[in-house]
Amino acid sequence: MIKILDQSIFCLSTRNTTYMFQKLPSGHLEHLYYGALLPGVTGEEARAFSEKRGCETGNMIVYSQDDKTLLLEDTCLEVSGEGKGDIREPFLEVIRSDGSRTTDFVFEKAEVLQEKESYDDLPGSYGMEPGEHLCVILRDAAGDLALELHYYVYENEDVVCRSARLLNQSDSVVCVERLMSAQLDLRRSGYVMSTFTGAWAREMDRVDTVVSAGKHQVSSCGGASSNRANPFVMFSSPDAGEDHGRCIGMNLIYSGNHCELAEVNAYGKTRILTGIEPRGFSWTLEPQESFQAPEAVLTFSGKGWTGISLNMHRFIREHIVRGKWKDKERPVLLNSWEAAYFQFDEGRLMKLAKAAADAGIELFVLDDGWFGKRNDDTSSLGDWTENRKKLPGGLKGLSGKIKSLGMDFGIWVEPEMVNVDSDLYRNHPEWALAIPGRAHSEGRNQRILDLTNPDVVDYLTETMTSVFSSGDISYVKWDMNRIFSDAFSQYLPAERQGEVFHRYICGLYRLMGRLVESFPDILFEGCASGGCRSDLGILCYFPQIWASDNTDPLCRAAIQEGYSYGYPQSVVSAHVSASPNHQTLRATPLETRFGVAAFGLLGYELNLCDLRKEELDEVRNQIRWYKKWRDVLQFGDFYRGMETAWLNSGDTSSRYPGATDAFPAEYSWTCVSADKSRAVGFTLQPLVRPNVQYHRFVARGLDPDKRYSFSNIPRKVDIRRFGDLINTQSPVHIRQDSLGHRVAAKFVKMDGEKEKYTSLSGAALMEAGVSLTGSYTGTGMNDQTRCYQDFDSRIYIIKEVEGAEDESSGDVEKENV
Ligand code: DGJ
Repeated sequence: MIKILDQSIFCLSTRNTTYMFQKLPSGHLEHLYYGALLPGVTGEEARAFSEKRGCETGNMIVYSQDDKTLLLEDTCLEVSGEGKGDIREPFLEVIRSDGSRTTDFVFEKAEVLQEKESYDDLPGSYGMEPGEHLCVILRDAAGDLALELHYYVYENEDVVCRSARLLNQSDSVVCVERLMSAQLDLRRSGYVMSTFTGAWAREMDRVDTVVSAGKHQVSSCGGASSNRANPFVMFSSPDAGEDHGRCIGMNLIYSGNHCELAEVNAYGKTRILTGIEPRGFSWTLEPQESFQAPEAVLTFSGKGWTGISLNMHRFIREHIVRGKWKDKERPVLLNSWEAAYFQFDEGRLMKLAKAAADAGIELFVLDDGWFGKRNDDTSSLGDWTENRKKLPGGLKGLSGKIKSLGMDFGIWVEPEMVNVDSDLYRNHPEWALAIPGRAHSEGRNQRILDLTNPDVVDYLTETMTSVFSSGDISYVKWDMNRIFSDAFSQYLPAERQGEVFHRYICGLYRLMGRLVESFPDILFEGCASGGCRSDLGILCYFPQIWASDNTDPLCRAAIQEGYSYGYPQSVVSAHVSASPNHQTLRATPLETRFGVAAFGLLGYELNLCDLRKEELDEVRNQIRWYKKWRDVLQFGDFYRGMETAWLNSGDTSSRYPGATDAFPAEYSWTCVSADKSRAVGFTLQPLVRPNVQYHRFVARGLDPDKRYSFSNIPRKVDIRRFGDLINTQSPVHIRQDSLGHRVAAKFVKMDGEKEKYTSLSGAALMEAGVSLTGSYTGTGMNDQTRCYQDFDSRIYIIKEVEGAEDESSGDVEKENV
């Protein structure tokens, strides 16, 4: 809800939060408050919040002789320019034709609008309720520039979105050096800034930095939102944690270079900025033109990181992801990449497809290598015609055959790229971003097509339209495998080269927008070397993203937990892959690979034809079970376990014995259906701790007043896990790893532990938790013991029951259909 009090105080309220600022007598906008809901807030309260200063202080610049108390350097502002005393990082920077850089934006007018703005070239949130748009127009004191600030209120999700547009109303060109998307000036310092940094194959590592003085910034300069630093960040009070404390979450609806920054000024105030990274950016704004900054998403929670995550998840599901697939359960897929890489032909693919269909897979995805002469990564990007040696019947023939097995068919493309060894490059070298006459630094042997050039965007629209129409294609994985170097467009004049990065992203959005509109039924999945472009901009077009090329379940648990702070499971695709894993060479149980992938959009990416029969049976069971629970796992509310939060706190003295710097002692997750009637729990132990028998599963997110059954999925234990200890039981000596050992393992299976409770209150499950069957600690093993060693995991099923007597709902056997 938006309220304007006394024509100068602006209050934006959601269900649980209030955001407030006011117009000062000078016309500047003073930020007053962002925090828990202030019901029925009044003008007097706003006056109480407003900072008071009796006189000029120290050597600060006095804004005007008329009011010697206005010192912009130490005022909380909604936006800040440069040159009038505020020496912190500015919201915007311009250079006028006379070379001057000073800007001073003051209030001109404000109105509450029914509709949300739609931007020409950028995506944004949607589904705002009428009347939840506040537009404030500021004008520079020189009179020639206007700055529109837009605020969109999403009441149910506790989100306020902000965006800004700069209009050049002068007669001369203005050079925009930066225009950020949101600024938040807070009165305190010492906020904990949580960033999600990483690299290829280790995306979204949460790093907490206390910002007490100076600046702390994450940014990306490689042309993509990047795996080096995701645009999602959090700012927490020092006492905040997983389920308590004040916390602000921020994200940007943008896929290019971005910057998130916190700066503490000399007086203990914190300025937070998010927006396009100023480095490498400049924009020539002609008279009467405007520049639009991407939209930023802000949320506040007094319930710690969990509150931020739940708000962000709901917001993304409701107001970012769109189209037919928005709320639709996503199919279980098999991807050919790690099953075959470039070495395939139709015969090999069909064998894989038959094994997939037999296992219950719903969608068969042909990854890289189906086009041109592409047998490795040195050629053919740009030549999007089928390789007839590999696929004699083309995509049409193959997709028809896959369909006849009862599966849908999907393909991989990387439209934004070109190999020098391709017909496209030979015909149009000028379409690649490169500096003519200078050596080009390559990434994965490929170059980036110049999407600032509308001809290239048109060409790619046509080419991809023809690819997507060339067979029965239900799914497209859209990859992008390098960051920018030598970013130079032959289409743009010299003075506009600072526009390359942003224009590229706008061209990309145009291309994606056209294709998703033409192919509304196709399920698109974004990918950029895994998670190098996992952001809200991409999610406005594609409902899901391949989160990381790393499918090692231990690494994936960390990566997916990292994503979970800001992104819901319904956008994070996750695959079961081979063991040893191709990225880490770590061998892990199939059960754990599945458990981690099931807490995302489940797929498989391994050669099913090489699995043993019992492994295939296990895969079949996994898929069957997942289909029954995927509504909860894909669209339920996700909660990180308190244990993990505690262990990740960085305070090594409080760690569990056995936790290492690399891994917490345990990952523990709960996913709960919207009506809180069904939930799935998960635990994963990275490394076993000797002589620790007792583990608990503590659920989160349930209804404390409901009663639930609690059970695990029945399991068998392979006796080979005990190595030569088998000889303590066997009447004859069995040599470890011998044929005899394998035969014994085939026929003798131990029953795993059973956890079964028929009626526990949600309160009991969340407060006390369930003490699980004791773990193997080096002595004795029977069906009352859990074999819960390195890399082991468990799934727990939690279902609402009518009353204490209802035994049937907790029937674990039913789960193992
Ligand atoms: C990088 C992606 O992240 C992988 O999943 C795979 O599609 C390869 N590219 C194919 O080249």
